[in-house]
Amino acid sequence: MAENEANSEEDFMGVMLSKFRSVEEHDANTINKATSLTLVLAAEDTTSITMTWALALLLNNCDTLNKVQQELDIHVGKDKLLISESDTKNLVYLQSIIKETLRLYSPAPLSVTHEAIEDYTVHGYDVLVGTWLIFNLTRFIVIPAYGQTHLSFNQKNL
Ligand code: HEM
Repeated sequence: MAENEANSEEDFMGVMLSKFRSVEEHDANTINKATSLTLVLAAEDTTSITMTWALALLLNNCDTLNKVQQELDIHVGKDKLLISESDTKNLVYLQSIIKETLRLYSPAPLSVTHEAIEDYTVHGYDVLVGTWLIFNLTRFIVIPAYGQTHLSFNQKNL
């Protein structure tokens, strides 16, 4: 087996190597390294920033902290140190806390660059094909039409 081939196609690297083997324009290792780096960079900051804000918000909202502790005690138990992915479906209050945290302190306030693939009009603005667009995602934090007018942790969203 060649040095850069994976032992199994079941794991992430195996799938990546098998997919890129057939791409002729670029070296498979280069694509693989660039894609892996993108995933690590995109995943690390966003997740850790969201977790930090969620904890900060909980420490400033003791009622919410107590309620989520109760939910964890009931659905995960006090003896288990780590939450499994299978536990998360039962942790609906925790999920709301994460969503409320993302509403207030999104680690990604802007979208990545998008390019219009056809002419279109949105809210009276003409967007021509080929235009590069970066969306202001923080605009969604306060949406009166959906009752979202709070700029602080909103218990009603939980
Ligand atoms: C709280 C967690 C996260 C938030 C808030 C977040 C947010 C975003 C946003 C807003 C974009 C731009 C989407 C667009 O403009 O179309 C994006 C793109 C992306 N995210 Fe995340 N992300 C998170 C976690 C992750 C994780 C864990 C991974 C990888 C394991 C990841 C991988 C990516 C990648 C690869 C892209 C680029 C997608 C593309 O090129 O179309 N993100 N993310």
